[in-house]
Amino acid sequence: MIEIKTASGSNRDVHRVGALNTPQRLGPVAIIFLGPPGAGKGTQARHVANVYRFPHISTGDVFRSHVAKKTPLGLQAAKIMSRGMLVPDEVVCGMLSEHIRGLGFAGCLILDGFPRSVAQAKWLDRFLYMRSGVSHDLQCNAPAAIQISIERDQLLRRLAGRRSCPTCGRTYNLYFQPPRNPGICDYEGAELVMRPDDSENVVRERLMIHDQNALPVTEYYLRKGRLLEIDGNKAAEAVRTAIAVELESVFALARA
Ligand code: AP5
Repeated sequence: MIEIKTASGSNRDVHRVGALNTPQRLGPVAIIFLGPPGAGKGTQARHVANVYRFPHISTGDVFRSHVAKKTPLGLQAAKIMSRGMLVPDEVVCGMLSEHIRGLGFAGCLILDGFPRSVAQAKWLDRFLYMRSGVSHDLQCNAPAAIQISIERDQLLRRLAGRRSCPTCGRTYNLYFQPPRNPGICDYEGAELVMRPDDSENVVRERLMIHDQNALPVTEYYLRKGRLLEIDGNKAAEAVRTAIAVELESVFALARA
């Protein structure tokens, strides 16, 4: 038996679920974060994962970990990521499948930065069906896709100001969420680093690639009736609240 708190984290409304192999009792089989680079997908996905105690999987983070370990996949991905391009679908799907199996977790997944193409979205539907045995045609089990939209100038500032801790992976922002001591992680005391793909020329490329690929994926989830649109221009706390409200209604549907 595990406890799943509501997005608000209130103790008043703790849902007890008995069997992780019956995800229809839990609601969506996956919560997906969509949006351009710097929209706040990672920031919000990590929070939702903490609240619900579901695993947070950022395909970008998994690739960066392969790059750091210089695995064959990391060496292949590094060349692509440093140019701001997308890793080929079959490589991302293979990597994700292996990563999810390695988690040994049967419940809902928080996916950040995946899918980025309709081919990836279709692969995910098949993969989740094979994994859970539950048809996503059942609305209560369909993946919930959270689309975070944001103005372009706001987004450029967020990417230019982003710094992260190489030890714990926490993300800060020089302009919006600075650490207590400049350049140092509040929790680990490690020196914060800038992502190599946050340089101005690579950001330009990443945004162009996003603009070319994002719409069909958004439409894919819109057609399934599970697209939750969130205004990402507000402060992180306000965005978090808006997401919590949307997710509460998704989980309420599963409980009904
Ligand atoms: P990935 O790591 O997924 O990068 P991305 O999609 O470009 O997104 P980011 O991580 O840059 O931004 P975010 O939306 O998570 O924003 P964050 O929360 O950090 O992918 C990297 C690369 O890997 C890709 O280019 C590709 O090559 C490859 N890849 C990954 N997945 C792939 C896939 N599925 N297919 C193919 N290739 C793939 O926030 C940004 C900053 O803003 C932070 O400093 C944060 O503190 C701050 N901030 C956040 N929210 C707010 C707010 N509301 N107000 C003020 N500041 C805020």
